[in-house]
Amino acid sequence: MRVYHLSAECYPIAKVGGLGDVVGALPKYQKLAGIDAAVALPYYNRNFVQEHSFDVVFRASTLMGGRRYEFEILKEKHDTLGFELYLIYVPGLLDRTEVYSYPDEREQFIIYQLCFLDWINWSQQTPDLIHCHDHHTGLVPFLLQHSALYKRLANVPTVFTIHNGQYHGAFGWERVNLLPEIDMWKGGLLEWSGGINPLASAVKCCSRYTTVSPSYLQELQVNSNGLEYLFWVERAKGQGIINGIDTEVWNPATDSMIAATYTADKPDAGKKKNKEALCKRFNLSTDKPLVSFIGRLVGEKGADMIPEALVRSIEQYAGALNFVILGTGEVDVQEALKAVSERYPENCQVFIGYNEELSHQIYAGSDFLLMPSRVEPCGLNQLYALRYGTVPMVRSTGGLKDTVIDYSQADGYGIAFANASADDMITAVGRALELYKNTAQLQLLCKRMMALDFSWNKSAAEYIQLYQYLTPNL
Ligand code: ADP
Ligand code: GLC
Repeated sequence: MRVYHLSAECYPIAKVGGLGDVVGALPKYQKLAGIDAAVALPYYNRNFVQEHSFDVVFRASTLMGGRRYEFEILKEKHDTLGFELYLIYVPGLLDRTEVYSYPDEREQFIIYQLCFLDWINWSQQTPDLIHCHDHHTGLVPFLLQHSALYKRLANVPTVFTIHNGQYHGAFGWERVNLLPEIDMWKGGLLEWSGGINPLASAVKCCSRYTTVSPSYLQELQVNSNGLEYLFWVERAKGQGIINGIDTEVWNPATDSMIAATYTADKPDAGKKKNKEALCKRFNLSTDKPLVSFIGRLVGEKGADMIPEALVRSIEQYAGALNFVILGTGEVDVQEALKAVSERYPENCQVFIGYNEELSHQIYAGSDFLLMPSRVEPCGLNQLYALRYGTVPMVRSTGGLKDTVIDYSQADGYGIAFANASADDMITAVGRALELYKNTAQLQLLCKRMMALDFSWNKSAAEYIQLYQYLTPNL
């Protein structure tokens, strides 16, 4: 079965968050399970692309907004990622260094989708299924079915995976000329709330949509930035499949980015060394529990509440814990975190920026990982923390609710709290402090967490079952 994944991100080429991790890993595991999965990504002018060899496999031009753009499809020569990787190169539009936040982002993602469809159409490929991820690829299901250009491909089934239902990629009808000729009688399938809404369109037009956790599937019906009714109407087409993790990239037994490797049966010495190295880097003492946060500093992650929670925790627990924060995002939050660190340098250290290596070191060297998310479609950080024997402290929502059981329950291992609030975070920090004092219990939990299996094997199989259901004649 030939499947193309379409996404704005794919690790290690371009990763901003978990979307990159998922699209860099899922196809690899699908290939191992016998699916001929490939990824077609926008071209990015980044390290991976400079350092690897590519062949130009297709060249043509496409029309967008009355203008003709030349494009090339590049294929990575040696399939080093474990699957075929194609990059869609459009000089001037798809040749950038960053993934998001350009003023012409709309044009970038539209031309990406058009070039992909033109390429498979003109090169006479008929994939068995196209798997689109998030709104950047959300126009594909509509275009396949309702643009005369792609008539040949109208029956190709599509799966649309929602990693983040808060962002829709919406734009006004005045820019409909960016799209190729479409059947305007079907224009309603593009629309939500008076505009063109790629996320809504994908949910309406795809063969089946999935969310990255079962709980998030339900939550979209009550919190999806205006699409709640749509998700209720289309609920029969939805399915929640929890993300997995790439256990080759995230493996404390082999990880070359961490100070010392360790395994589930004997984690203590290795974890200790990693904590020492991390604390040394940040000039923190090693004898206190270390609570860390890694992530985008945005409202969804509850990052704006962290500075207050840090100050109050440090005061309330008389500096008995230390904190390390790694993240980048809203400027106000960055500044507030830096201010906490300046005020309490012995208890709180902050690294503003994106640093893959440091993230591994923090997962390995921390005792606890805080995730006070307001919204968390799946969350991978808690899964990495579990794999590295670090206790996740999570607000029970979305994928966090589906993957972290509070340690007060039978077979539990994490610290779970109900509300995204500074108060709940401070209470959770207090529980972390108590747990830390009970070395035997902490060691038991560490082993229990590391023995859990959140690898892709199970989730990749669920996607494959879905593909098989949508392609009954194969
Ligand atoms: P989201 O995709 O919403 O940001 P996830 O939990 O799914 O959240 O995935 C976040 C991914 O991005 C993880 O791999 C995490 O380690 C990584 N990450 C986030 N911020 C940073 C950062 N500042 N430096 C390094 N890695 C980061
Ligand atoms: C999104 C979500 C995150 C999820 C990731 C990968 O960025 O915010 O919760 O883990 O996608 O699916």
